[in-house]
Amino acid sequence: MSDKAPGWIAAPGTPLLGELTVPGDKSVSHRAVMLAALADGTSRIDGFLEGEDTRATAAIFARLGVHIEAPEPSVRLVHGVGVDGLQPPDGPLDCGNAGTGMRLLAGVLAGQAFDSVLVGDESLSRRPMRRVIDPLERMGAHIDSEGGLPPLHIHGGSMLQGIDYALPVASAQVKSAILLAGLRARGTTCVHEPHPTRDYTERMLQAFGWPIDFVPGMARITGGHRLLPTDVVVPSDFSSAAFFLVAATLVPGSELVLRRVGMNPRRTGLLHVLRAMGADIVEEHAGEQGGEPVADLRVRHAPLHGIEVPVEHVPDMIDEFPAMFVAAACASGTTTVHGAAELRVKESDRIDAMARGLRALGITVDEAPDGACIQGGQLRGGGIDSRGDHRIAMAFAVAGQRAASEVRIGDVANVTTSFPGFDTLAREAGFGLRVA
Ligand code: S3P
Repeated sequence: MSDKAPGWIAAPGTPLLGELTVPGDKSVSHRAVMLAALADGTSRIDGFLEGEDTRATAAIFARLGVHIEAPEPSVRLVHGVGVDGLQPPDGPLDCGNAGTGMRLLAGVLAGQAFDSVLVGDESLSRRPMRRVIDPLERMGAHIDSEGGLPPLHIHGGSMLQGIDYALPVASAQVKSAILLAGLRARGTTCVHEPHPTRDYTERMLQAFGWPIDFVPGMARITGGHRLLPTDVVVPSDFSSAAFFLVAATLVPGSELVLRRVGMNPRRTGLLHVLRAMGADIVEEHAGEQGGEPVADLRVRHAPLHGIEVPVEHVPDMIDEFPAMFVAAACASGTTTVHGAAELRVKESDRIDAMARGLRALGITVDEAPDGACIQGGQLRGGGIDSRGDHRIAMAFAVAGQRAASEVRIGDVANVTTSFPGFDTLAREAGFGLRVA
């Protein structure tokens, strides 16, 4: 835990009541900027996430010669330059903390005429990039890395060729990198997934007018088309809503409505799992926003019981495990998770970070290489190292709402990567949460 980085003190507040809207979806915001930048003309993005990750992506496209205006918060006007219009950058491109930014950009940059270098912060510099380098090199790209880790030196001037690629791990980032490289490749690029993952790249390519075939688990495109400027309305991020879904479930007397939450089925695995544990979450006013399903989610306090998390839901809730581990810690009985080894290579090793953190609060957790077994119990107070991981910090802010005394969370600065304003919104809803 760093002395300098700001931290939080979380402790029970009041029941969580009222209505709130969480910020725009991170995955959709990244992709919207990328496709708008590569389109032939101006696209407007509403609901853009003003998080550090997505702002880093927008800043990178500005460095690549794309004029991007921010007429008001959460709005971007992107003056696209076309799939062949990016300009050489004047130095390394900083993706910050964003794995999505770096991996998708590797796909965009692999087929360009110029060289580029992608760098990231300390956490991103430890994250595996071989998973994108390998398929992109099979397409003809030349990418140097530090033994499979960032920085990525992408050599320009390679003519890419479409491939037929079976992903070894279910990853929307890798799938998307390959599809984005496929825009500038000769012939057809086809990606098969071991389990279907979020399909925003596919849906958005279609919305921007690029011909694409896709079904859950497979996507196929052909190079040589153009992207038409298209306005995008970004739904609220289910992964940000997840912290409030769990918190309102856990705090007695709560009834909270989360407005216009993105309900893409590849994102909502946590809903199935929380309901199987006994949660009371009702979808209201289901509709569509910018081609994505959205709904208001009404969540009321309910006692939870432990379950075995069905493996088929794992990819659909991959970012929600920190919140789910807290739900499991407060449930009666045992919750087991398997098939989630990917959690070890997120912004931190999330299995280890959650297991150690929950143990520090008196909960029994046995780790497995691909999951954990959590015995529900009474949380006590204690000190937590968030490891600079936004979702670990927010998960323990939720844990504090059910702890017997204060939970001190160190190093919460990176919460702004995905959820700027989380602590203010949480306090407004009823959280006991203050900056330490
Ligand atoms: C994302 C895909 C997931 C997810 C990440 C965002 C995306 O990563 O964890 O937060 O926007 O494509 P993987 O592709 O590594 O599973």
